[in-house]
Amino acid sequence: MSENLADFDQHHVWHPYSSATPPLPNLVVRSASGVRIQLEDGCELIDAMASWWSALHGYNHPVLNQAVTDQVADMSHVMFGGLTHEPAVTLCANLLKTVPPDMQHVFLADSGSVAVEVALKMAFQYQLAIGQGQRSKVAALRGGYHGDTLGAMSVCDPDAGMHQLFSDYVPRQLFVDRPSIRYGDAWDDQALDGIRAMFEANHSELAAFILEPIVQGAGGMWFYAREYVQGIRELCDEFGVLLIADEIATAFGRTGHWLACDDSAVVPDILCVGKALTGGYLSLAATLTTSRVAEGISGGQNPELMHGPTFMGNPLACAVANANLVLLQSGEWPAQVAAIHSVLKEGLAEAEGFANVTDVRVHGAIGVIETAQPVDMKVVQDICLDEGVWLRPFGRLIYTMPPYVMGVEDLVRVTSTMKRMAKQVY
Ligand SMILES: Cc1ncc(COP(=O)(O)O)c(C=O)c1O
Repeated sequence: MSENLADFDQHHVWHPYSSATPPLPNLVVRSASGVRIQLEDGCELIDAMASWWSALHGYNHPVLNQAVTDQVADMSHVMFGGLTHEPAVTLCANLLKTVPPDMQHVFLADSGSVAVEVALKMAFQYQLAIGQGQRSKVAALRGGYHGDTLGAMSVCDPDAGMHQLFSDYVPRQLFVDRPSIRYGDAWDDQALDGIRAMFEANHSELAAFILEPIVQGAGGMWFYAREYVQGIRELCDEFGVLLIADEIATAFGRTGHWLACDDSAVVPDILCVGKALTGGYLSLAATLTTSRVAEGISGGQNPELMHGPTFMGNPLACAVANANLVLLQSGEWPAQVAAIHSVLKEGLAEAEGFANVTDVRVHGAIGVIETAQPVDMKVVQDICLDEGVWLRPFGRLIYTMPPYVMGVEDLVRVTSTMKRMAKQVY
């Protein structure tokens, strides 16, 4: 059966960023528990990806399982237009307790990309409502990644992203270079000169500036100075531009701070969270904003925020997100992230000496080896199976964002597998 399954999958089922006829078959997963994924053929893999950075507590977690089971018995779903329910209201209340007090309004979205679309709409609608309708552009960082829907794509890196492929469809935005000063390096105010010039030249048409604070994730796994985020906040204030913090990858402790913004003591006007919001159980994201923005929109000629997905506020997703927040608030995550950080630092350091490695960096519970040439996915898959570790490098980046509950022994296996992969890249 598993062979038939893999064969059918390869020929008929589309996977993320893949051809309809992919050269490599996908590995068939039978179950997942703790930090391990069991394959159909009996092979077991330590999951160093936390299912694209979402499964913080591992799989098959009793508390999260129970939250879903209990909620199914009450209701799996009801529409959110004109109706509301306890799981959604509790989640919004809990979320607001964990973010800066200026955040007062929550829009529940189905995925990270949708949360970004909603953030962009909020920004445009706000500017329109306050008589700044000519502000119809967004500024973004090169090297950023914000999702795959059209609006989100328009603010992803213009070269590595999908701009060229969809150039007739994607709105044209303004880009500034990716921050060059690394996290922890000495700050130089001049690093913001070019951006100030961009604000001065374009502010009258700028509705918002979007960035992934401190950590640029899928666009390059790049960790940059906290002062940069502070500088952009100040420029946004000076020029009447809203700051959108896309924390879909970083929220809930991944960087060692609950929000990456907290590290810079910056409060954005609009904040997107997702991925780890449900502990990796169900798709859910949220766009949060201040009373100024929410009331600005509601006081305009079009007071309704124009978005409303069918599965908005899905009770199952909200219930498991609530359970996830309770688990996180039990307080273990700072120690877990700090422990992962030191194992990654120690384990990956050796790779700095490899001939084909151009950089090794660790931030929070994120470890990266950057190689001179792109990885060969066939080689990578073979190494994963051989080592019993699941990694999914892209381009020249071999990285891990493990579940917070991963123990030292497993983490050491992850770092040695990453090094083995790095050695294979020529
Ligand atoms: C920073 C950031 N924004 C947005 C997204 C898109 O989220 P989703 O894949 O849930 O649509 C991602 C996904 O990797 C992300 O890392």
